[in-house]
Amino acid sequence: MAAGMGGTSMASAPGTAGVESPPAGATVELAGPGADDRVVVRAEAMRVWTAEGTMILRDLSWTVRAGEHWALLGPNGSGKSTLLSLLATVRHPSAGTISVLGGALGRANLWRLRERIGIVDPAVRMPPELPAIVLVLTGASNTVQPLWPRYGPADWERAGHLLGLLGCAGLRDRTIASCSQGERQRVRIARALMAEPPLLLLDEPANALDLPAREALLAALADLAASRPDLTTVLVSHHLEELPTSTTHALLLREGASVASGPAGEVLTGERVSACFGLPVRVERRDGRWSAYAAPDWRRPGSLSPSSVPNDTPSSPVPGPGGPPATGTTR
Ligand SMILES: Nc1ncnc2c1ncn2[C@@H]1O[C@H](COP(=O)(O)OP(=O)(O)O)[C@@H](O)[C@H]1O
Ligand SMILES: [Mg+2]
Repeated sequence: MAAGMGGTSMASAPGTAGVESPPAGATVELAGPGADDRVVVRAEAMRVWTAEGTMILRDLSWTVRAGEHWALLGPNGSGKSTLLSLLATVRHPSAGTISVLGGALGRANLWRLRERIGIVDPAVRMPPELPAIVLVLTGASNTVQPLWPRYGPADWERAGHLLGLLGCAGLRDRTIASCSQGERQRVRIARALMAEPPLLLLDEPANALDLPAREALLAALADLAASRPDLTTVLVSHHLEELPTSTTHALLLREGASVASGPAGEVLTGERVSACFGLPVRVERRDGRWSAYAAPDWRRPGSLSPSSVPNDTPSSPVPGPGGPPATGTTR
């Protein structure tokens, strides 16, 4: 389930209690003049721990560039939502650095920075009585209820266009109450895009959707990527089946550490996904989509060994949490 990253509820995002405020030296900051303007996110040796000292993210170094579509994968509790809340700037690293949409804004302007980050968060309330088109419009004011004076004809037009882009043109005048779970999720994405954010964050967007709704959502995300080449997305999931065909990169997390990071085709292998989830799995790719399932002999003692892990890549030692990254592409 999503950890409540934000939208209008960002300032009081659930799940932030107990996390230390940033010590000196841990920053969310501007990248500075001359920075690579294609860099959307850069984390360096970033760590997050709780006030009780529990490590949630360990030594994470990661770079996301404009137009990339990242999948953030890992078992429950591996730190995916925590990492997403750092990207949403609602949480700070305990050590190390992270810049988000760097070069534009510093810490003093976090609110301005947040306006440029689209967040698809099921924790943000959707008033059931609002028509879908109005719910999308509220994304322009980043409010739960509509702020009518803020919306001009161009906003209405854009809201209608976004509903169409997400395959929801027919929902325009339907109330949120009458929309299915899957329809609501696509309306949520349209809302998050209203402010034209260069970065879109999605935490388990296909969670609890049935098969047709999931497929409609993934098709909409692929269409979105095709129509907005500069849009950067980071999508959290724990199922490879929930990755849209537009996925370009993947970061595998286990116990807060990166197991592998880089182009999806190099990272989403049986060996690496097995190391990430602690279970020998086979990974398949067909028609641009991914799937994973347990190897037939996975219950045999010692089955998670390099030799028995399904071998769709050249064999190399399977790193454990905190071990060396499986690819040389962790950046
Ligand atoms: N505010 C917090 N205080 C204490 N522990 C937390 C807090 N937020 C997350 N955690 C812990 O950090 C780990 C990672 O959580 P999370 O990022 O939500 O994982 P994921 O999204 O991968 O399931 C979990 O063990 C969780 O219990
Ligand atoms: Mg989560």
